[in-house]
Amino acid sequence: MNNISNNEKAEKILRLKEEAGALVLAHYYQNLDIQHVADYCGDSFELAKRARSSDKNIIVFCGVSFMAESAKIMNPEKRVFLPRADAGCQMADMVTPDIVSKMKKEHPQAVVVCYINSSAATKALSDICVTSSNALKIVGTLKENEIIFIPDKNLGAFVAKHFPDKKFYFMEGWCPVHHDVDIEALREARRLHPEAPVVIHPECREEILKESDFIGSTSGILDYCRESDKKEFIVATERAIVERLKEECPDKKFYLMSSCLVCPNMKKTRLDDLLYTLETLDDEIYMTEEEIRAARLPLERMLNAVKD
Ligand code: 13P
Ligand code: SF4
Repeated sequence: MNNISNNEKAEKILRLKEEAGALVLAHYYQNLDIQHVADYCGDSFELAKRARSSDKNIIVFCGVSFMAESAKIMNPEKRVFLPRADAGCQMADMVTPDIVSKMKKEHPQAVVVCYINSSAATKALSDICVTSSNALKIVGTLKENEIIFIPDKNLGAFVAKHFPDKKFYFMEGWCPVHHDVDIEALREARRLHPEAPVVIHPECREEILKESDFIGSTSGILDYCRESDKKEFIVATERAIVERLKEECPDKKFYLMSSCLVCPNMKKTRLDDLLYTLETLDDEIYMTEEEIRAARLPLERMLNAVKD
């Protein structure tokens, strides 16, 4: 496969997905060559909605395992494929069913709000899922005063700030890509680019969020930068967002705030992997009916809570 050019691979992918009747979804953190051949690119929430409403029988999810798993849970009669079976999520791996069960025992009155970046087994123990783009809205709909927010304590702290009357319980979980951004990186970027607003993902730590100008999910950041009159931006989320913005807005400048903002799992999927999946229909997501049934309700509740 390596003896054909990337353009030829891309053309082959476009042809094969037509022939197979496949829907190719790509998260915005994927390499740009993957985004270019996808039917839809989006943040976690947008892609979850696309997966649920897909009428194609084959969904190829270029992202990480919890995303493909969520697609399967929401549309179980479809065949869902993850081109790199080893593309996991370090944050999702930080939470186990044991941790959730223990927290539930300690706080029996609390509702369990689960970031979609989690395994099906974790979702099965949760009441409702959220993504970074809808967490504020969804928590705002909850009548309970106590909330167990898993696994991301940074996103949780950001949400909790907006609901001072509610009591939140967190666990030790975070996205290493965003958590490792430090305040020195932010201040140095501001020193170098004093005119540029700092736009940041809520998976970053609170002390960094405090000094930023705009906090938003992946799509929120993209929209803010596209629509702003400003000409330069310091961006604190995965590197592919900066690459996409540079391509979309050639008259603006984008600076990645820290070199740690690269997700190794999101970067695993290559054109060769996608081509292989479409040619062989290998790397299918298999889940038992029971696993799907148990994890489905919190995802459905999320989608129903924020119906547009
Ligand atoms: P969003 O797509 O919800 O912004 O999430 C970011 C992320 O870390 C995905 O893995
Ligand atoms: Fe997981 Fe963070 Fe990578 Fe998203 S960016 S897949 S949360 S490790």
